[in-house]
Amino acid sequence: MPTYRAGIIGCGSIAANHVSGFQGLENVDIAAIADPVATSLSTFGDRFEIENRYSDAREMLDVEQLDIVSIATWHKLHAPMTIAACSRKPKAVLCEKPMAVNLGECDEMMIAAKRNDVKLAIAHQRRFNPVWTEARNLVTSGAIGDIRQVTAKGGQGLLNDCSHLLDMMRYVMGDPDAKWVIGNIERYTDRYERDIQIEDRSVGIIRFSNGAIGQLLQELDGPHYQGGIFYGTDGILELDELKIRLLSPETGAWDERTPEGEDPHVGQARELIEWIEGHTVHRGSAEHGRAAVEIIMAIYESARLHEVTPFPVRTMASPLKVMIENGDLPVQRPGRYDVRAFLLKDETMRPDDP
Ligand SMILES: NC(=O)c1ccc[n+]([C@@H]2O[C@H](COP(=O)([O-])OP(=O)(O)OC[C@H]3O[C@@H](n4cnc5c(N)ncnc54)[C@H](O)[C@@H]3O)[C@@H](O)[C@H]2O)c1
Repeated sequence: MPTYRAGIIGCGSIAANHVSGFQGLENVDIAAIADPVATSLSTFGDRFEIENRYSDAREMLDVEQLDIVSIATWHKLHAPMTIAACSRKPKAVLCEKPMAVNLGECDEMMIAAKRNDVKLAIAHQRRFNPVWTEARNLVTSGAIGDIRQVTAKGGQGLLNDCSHLLDMMRYVMGDPDAKWVIGNIERYTDRYERDIQIEDRSVGIIRFSNGAIGQLLQELDGPHYQGGIFYGTDGILELDELKIRLLSPETGAWDERTPEGEDPHVGQARELIEWIEGHTVHRGSAEHGRAAVEIIMAIYESARLHEVTPFPVRTMASPLKVMIENGDLPVQRPGRYDVRAFLLKDETMRPDDP
């Protein structure tokens, strides 16, 4: 059995899940890690007993001859690090969600992957949650009829939690395209989420190609809740990360199911290897990560232009960033504050630019 050499860029909280995913397989060796923050690098390296440690990710990429590169940095570094990794021609890159902070960067990542013949997957690992996969099987086999509506509520900004929720809507319904979006946002504080300027509240209505209407409500201080409700012509399906509840219109009774299976991080890593070996296409391949970002950018674009955003979205910059830079969203309570600053280590308060 071949052994694949994996390297991890960014040694923070989610990187530990990348390690556990790869360690769940027999044929992946975590060869090296990179992080410019000394405390993060040493703590992570000691915890997982990884000897080859680099403060410069590009040096690691040059030296280590990696087959797989995991990118587990904050969002703004996803594109530059993916492009840097792809240029060294590993077999695959697994980049954290959100894929990038605008559509232009998503496209550059996909070009870099194609140019260098690299398989690029985005870590929407709940596609490997047995609950979500069972929900997809039920919905796509018609268990609740035709899907008319799906609702989800998220916190932490559209790019963070809500990229998972939008990916959930698509995954469970069999990955329909979005056709149009109408949305709006509210930004009255100068809050950031992992170094990205973020809205305080947002709402999006999404028309999918299967005819369903998605509704997403986001509140920065809102609950961290991963799940949603699918309304079909013949029933309702509710899901979270642990269970599915099905409402039968005939009996009016709820049927609860708790499907079990492989850890999603292991499943995500396993399918990456299967993709490398040509057995399948990763269910989190880059176009799905891009699709979630495209819906988010469409919500921002609808807020910017005060109109329905048709797909494909043609604005490659983040319309939220454009609105902020144009002075269209003056904050009522000035003062920069990052809701994830607690993740930073040592003296760092604002991450360095790439
Ligand atoms: N898939 C999920 O469920 C999930 C969960 C949590 C976080 N995430 C995503 O993972 C990403 C990281 O989030 P986190 O919570 O792990 O953050 P974190 O702050 O815990 O970790 C990020 C790490 O990147 C390091 N870093 C910064 N600049 C770097 C550089 N130039 N090169 C290499 N490393 C660098 C930091 O020092 C830090 O150790 C985010 O994009 C987030 O959205 C995904």
